[in-house]
Amino acid sequence: MSEEELFKGYPRGWFVVELSKELATSEVKPIKYFGRDMVLFRGEDGSPRVLDAFCPHLGAHLGYGGKVVENTIRCPFHAWRFDETGRCVEVPYAKRIPAKACVKSHPVVEKQDLIFMWHCPHGSDPDWEIPTIEEYGSPGWTEWDVSLLHIKTHPREVVENLADKAHFGPIHGTKIEKFSNEYNGHIGIQRSKGIAYPRGGGEDPFESQSTYYGPGYMLTVMKSVLPNILLLAHTPIDQNSLHLRFGAMIDQSNLKEGGEKFAAQYKENLLIGFREDIELWENKVYRPRPMLCDGDGDIGALRRWYATFYDNDTAA
Ligand code: FES
Ligand SMILES: [Fe+2]
Repeated sequence: MSEEELFKGYPRGWFVVELSKELATSEVKPIKYFGRDMVLFRGEDGSPRVLDAFCPHLGAHLGYGGKVVENTIRCPFHAWRFDETGRCVEVPYAKRIPAKACVKSHPVVEKQDLIFMWHCPHGSDPDWEIPTIEEYGSPGWTEWDVSLLHIKTHPREVVENLADKAHFGPIHGTKIEKFSNEYNGHIGIQRSKGIAYPRGGGEDPFESQSTYYGPGYMLTVMKSVLPNILLLAHTPIDQNSLHLRFGAMIDQSNLKEGGEKFAAQYKENLLIGFREDIELWENKVYRPRPMLCDGDGDIGALRRWYATFYDNDTAA
C-alpha cells in the first residue's frame, strides 16, 4: 500500500475537541472533526459528551438548537431526547420509543482543562489513557494559555516535525546540538538540545523532550530560561484541514519583577516560531518517497510509527 493510501481516512486516538472553559454547563456546540458532524454538550452533572449530530428521526442537527435536559440532549425539531450512550430515552408524543432510535456516541474524557474525544474509524474502545501533567495546577505554574489555529494541511505534516531534525535551523533559527527519536507503542518522543535565538535578541540554551501520546496530542517539556510545557494538540477536520491548539504553561516561580512581560514575550516568540511551520505546511506537497540525506532525522521511522494509527486494513 502506498503512503498516500495509507494516510487516507483518520487516525485512531484521543484528540482535543474543546477547552474546558469554552463549554459551560448545559452548553451545546456543533463540532466537525474527522469529516463527521457531531454535537458536543455538557450535561447538568458537569460532564461533557459527544454524539453524532444528526437525529435518527427526521435528521435535524442536534448541535443547532438542541437543548440539554438533565444529562440528555433534546432535539430541536420534535423534542426526542438522547442520553450519553446515544440512545433515545424520550419521545414526548409517542407511547413507544422506536427500538433502533439512537445516534452514535463517542468516548469523552475531560482532563486538566482540555476536553478529549476518542476517535476510532471502526469503533473500538480507547486503548491508552491520557497522561496527567504533574505540574499542572501546582504553585508557580500558569494554566494553559491556548491559541486555536485553523491550518490547511494534512495531520501527517504536523506529526512529521517530530523527526525533522534539519528544519530547526532554516525555519526556527535554532541551533541543534543533540537530537534523537524514540517510539514505543502509542508514544513517540523527540529529545533535543540546542540554542534558540529569540527575536528580542540574546541566546536561550534549551533542552526539550516532545512526546506524542497517540497521533494528535503532544506535550513538550522545555528546560530553558523559563521552564515551560507546550501543548500541541491537533485534530483533523477533514482530509486537508485541522484545528491545532497551541498552548503553553509556564513556571513563573523564579521570575523577578517585570517577569510577566518577559513571560508574555516568551510565549509570543514560541507562537511566532510556530507560525513559520504553518506557512510551510500550508504550501508544501507531500513526498511519499522523499529524497533524504545523512543529516536528516529518521523520517521513515516516524512515518512507520504514525501509520500504526491508521489501521486501514480493518477499517469499516
Ligand atoms: S428530527 Fe429530531 S426529533 Fe424529529
Ligand atoms: Fe517546527
